[in-house]
Amino acid sequence: MRKLLFAVAAAAFALAPALSSDLAQAQSPIIVKFSHVVANDTPKGKGALKFKELAEKYTDGKVKIEIYPNSSLYKDKEEIEALQLGSVQMLAPSTAKFAPLGIKEFEALDLPWLFKDDATYSAAMKGTVGKWLFQKLESKGITGLAYWDNGFHMVSSNRPLMKPEDFKGLKFRISGSKIADQYFRLMGSIPQIMAFSEVYQALQTGVVDGCENTASNYLTQKFYEVQKDITVSYHAHLQYAVIVNSKFWSGLPPDIRTQLEKAMADATEYTNQIAHQENEDALAEIKKTGKTTLHYLSDADRKAWHEAMQPTYAWAKGRVGQEVLDLVAKELDVKMN
Ligand code: LMR
Repeated sequence: MRKLLFAVAAAAFALAPALSSDLAQAQSPIIVKFSHVVANDTPKGKGALKFKELAEKYTDGKVKIEIYPNSSLYKDKEEIEALQLGSVQMLAPSTAKFAPLGIKEFEALDLPWLFKDDATYSAAMKGTVGKWLFQKLESKGITGLAYWDNGFHMVSSNRPLMKPEDFKGLKFRISGSKIADQYFRLMGSIPQIMAFSEVYQALQTGVVDGCENTASNYLTQKFYEVQKDITVSYHAHLQYAVIVNSKFWSGLPPDIRTQLEKAMADATEYTNQIAHQENEDALAEIKKTGKTTLHYLSDADRKAWHEAMQPTYAWAKGRVGQEVLDLVAKELDVKMN
């Protein structure tokens, strides 16, 4: 009897830590902080929410995704540093924001008039370029999971921007890409890097005269309130890299990581599917407010912009390197310069 009691006690004792750790796991889901700088009601914002929904569902609640939109946790530059430090696990910065890490190759995607349309962009990113670019992040402790689309840039100021001359002397906020810096300079304007969360006020107070962005960002950040004229130029593309802290990601239990990868694949498909229409709808909304005037380039205007910005391509070789330009050219089946 004593032996039996002893055996039961020993078994209970052996089981206890297992039970309590199971309990602890059940009670404390893995937290993934996902920070980004735009509003929830944008392609990226909706994509992040979709990822949260699917990731929590596919892992049966073992993972909890906390979304921090609108720079509520970090601003542009800080968020990448925070990811490297592990203070945040997931981000979706625009690819223009990797240069401060010393990775310039992503800027090839910012070349003006590079992608003919959304379909061309998305086909190109599904090919080798996207994967090749992600490899560049690995040495920085960052793993690339997906590319999310946000369509094409418009440009604005308090005067109509129809001819290259109209840009002369104006200060434009840019998000970080030296390629954008270059094409704005070629148009005779003065580009200035500034965090996304500071743009509205900078436009309002005249710290800068203008900016470029997609319709969904113009609408949700209310840039249209402080810009009299928007040119629907679609001169360059805005895309995001969804990234994670590599150590965090590789340290996840494999079954959990597989479910998160599945959630990301599905959220990516969703985001890239809605991006175009979201921006079309945002443009219609902006128009409806009546607070700004939308302008459209004629073929002759567009040609003049093309010509003025064209030297960016030759300049880009020294900035992003020939290898990525060749890869992009091959993917798009175009000749670069
Ligand atoms: C910007 O800074 O203009 C963009 O990167 C914002 C965004 O993430 O869409």
